[in-house]
Amino acid sequence: MKFFIDTADLTEIRDAQAMGLLDGVTTNPSLMKKAGGSDFHGHIVRICEIVDGDVSAEVTATDYDGIMAEAHTLAALHEQVVVKVPLIPEGIRAIRSLSSEGIRTNCTLCFSPTQALVAAKAGATYISPFVGRLDDISTSGMELIEQIVQIYANYGYATQVLAASIRHPLHVVESALAGADVATIPYSVLMQLMKHPLTDLGLERFLADWAQYQQAAATSNGAS
Ligand code: E4P
Repeated sequence: MKFFIDTADLTEIRDAQAMGLLDGVTTNPSLMKKAGGSDFHGHIVRICEIVDGDVSAEVTATDYDGIMAEAHTLAALHEQVVVKVPLIPEGIRAIRSLSSEGIRTNCTLCFSPTQALVAAKAGATYISPFVGRLDDISTSGMELIEQIVQIYANYGYATQVLAASIRHPLHVVESALAGADVATIPYSVLMQLMKHPLTDLGLERFLADWAQYQQAAATSNGAS
């Protein structure tokens, strides 16, 4: 399973990259707002220079011509850029055209299996079903991941399932069990994946015992 980080924060991206965990990055306009700054294109290029993998950058136009123009600009920024396009009719039309041109796309804001089927037929590189936002409205986000994985397997679609809107480690576990190709994970959740109280307790005991061992060894060496 590939791990992407769901952030535009360069410090978080650098940290995750240093751990050797990153296969890519997803951004969106809300994450850009959170990261701050005024140079959107420069920021995307900086992310590409940190990470050795796909970096999703989102268009903000909602009409076909506007989406295509933004997509061409974004794709030209760096070879790692994947153009993120919303799952609306004009977006699907643009994904079809971009796919024919060899420009990779991440079809975002997916909330149903029919939307995912349409995105795959249009040739999207990734489909981003939003797990957490579905859970928020008492609908199983994970059931959607399972349905999409099954539908894509039934027909051999190449579109990769990118579990998005991940809120906690269980979302990552369940996405992996369902066979999602990628999980895009916020930095805080990425760190939680490594945490276990028994690991902390076990390490504390090992270090305490090691200190006692060294003390005993020093005493015995001093005595001989
Ligand atoms: C990623 O591609 C999405 O934009 C992101 O995961 C949305 O997450 P949120 O629902 O926490 O905003």
